[in-house]
Amino acid sequence: MSASAIQELSARRVWDSRGNPTVEVEVRTGSGVIGRAIAPAGASRGTREAIDLRDGGPALQGMDVRKAVANVNTAIATALKGMSCEDQGGIDAALVALDGTPLKSGLGGNAMVATSLAVLHAAAAAKGVPLWRHVADLSGEVPSLPLPEVQIFGGGAHAGRRVDVQDFMVMVPGAGSFDEVLEVTSEIYRAAGSLMSAKGHSVGVADEGGWWPVFSNNEEALETLVRAIEATGEKPGERVVISLDIAASEFGSRGRYRLALEDRELDRDQMIDLLGRWIDSYPIVSIEDPLAEDDPEGTVAFTQAYGDRLQIIGDDYLVTNAELVASAAGAGACNAVLIKVNQAGTVSESIACMQEARRNGYRCIVSARSGETEDVSISHLAVGLNAGQLKVGSFTRSERMAKWNECLRIGDALGGSAFVGGAPLAGTWWARQSEGGST
Ligand code: PGA
Ligand code: ZN
Repeated sequence: MSASAIQELSARRVWDSRGNPTVEVEVRTGSGVIGRAIAPAGASRGTREAIDLRDGGPALQGMDVRKAVANVNTAIATALKGMSCEDQGGIDAALVALDGTPLKSGLGGNAMVATSLAVLHAAAAAKGVPLWRHVADLSGEVPSLPLPEVQIFGGGAHAGRRVDVQDFMVMVPGAGSFDEVLEVTSEIYRAAGSLMSAKGHSVGVADEGGWWPVFSNNEEALETLVRAIEATGEKPGERVVISLDIAASEFGSRGRYRLALEDRELDRDQMIDLLGRWIDSYPIVSIEDPLAEDDPEGTVAFTQAYGDRLQIIGDDYLVTNAELVASAAGAGACNAVLIKVNQAGTVSESIACMQEARRNGYRCIVSARSGETEDVSISHLAVGLNAGQLKVGSFTRSERMAKWNECLRIGDALGGSAFVGGAPLAGTWWARQSEGGST
């Protein structure tokens, strides 16, 4: 058996940041190197993303993954043994063929993504290079250190729907280094917590580590975020800007949007007007899933209205799917795509989606899920894919911090000039303003 051939492939059940079971896969090659990866899990999932295989039944709220683990240990192990772990394309194609379903419900998206990522790790180990370097070899990209998007307040499905909007985030495109981004973000995070406790709120955190959103409406969260940025001595809109994930599919369908906190329902045009007022009032540079995934009319209209000022990201709308990106580009919907490997189900399909995005001039943001673990593969993917941006949740909890910290280590290996800074925001109002010298 050749050195890079897969000799053993097995799965075990491990646990994610919400205490739910998930799948870990370990690959051992002929030369004895090991690759290991864990599947993450979303809570606000797109309907067209790869489906995790869960056992159902009364135990563990039906969330157990014994069937997915068994699929790795039997069908997947049998199919992949003897294949070279350096043949990522061939292995992912074999997984897709073995699954045979449109949304990967046969083997399970969780079984497939953990396998695909474990193979990626094994190949890097077999070559004796860091994971980011192997990913750069596969994608043909020049590795770079991404601009972080960091959650300050959680919301939506990650915070008991306490506010409608899911992520209130900051970006620091004006920073000179990745380390500086984290330092500025840490100050803002802390300032936001102080503002919440000064209002007499108990300060818990949501699923991704952002502060629990005790607000009477979405605008109050935006106002508080601006105050938190100011409290650190920053002028909002200069070095620091705001990014939102509306995750509108969670509260909207067929062109109607129900704002629970304010007890009102908006139609598509009113929803676009509401977002427009926020864009005019706050230094927002990026909006994810502004309209629901079943509202292409709204998404196109929103992109037409604001695409030349903002980054408009499709997450549930595009589900890391190259074909959906191609058709969105044809229709003029979004100008950026979130890359979540477990939405696609395999590494190769994620790379294909990113390449399609690049062909169409779309920006790319590698992203974690709300259910995460100590697995730091996505930090390496963001670097090796030269994605430009990385979103892993907030600035607490080790399943989040592990990803930021891994970027610091990779950054040391890459050298200071590898940080992309504000470049991914080229074409937005922020970039025009910086070019004009007003920052
Ligand atoms: P999810 O949300 O991981 O719960 O699906 C993350 C996001 O919407 O970006
Ligand atoms: Zn999202």
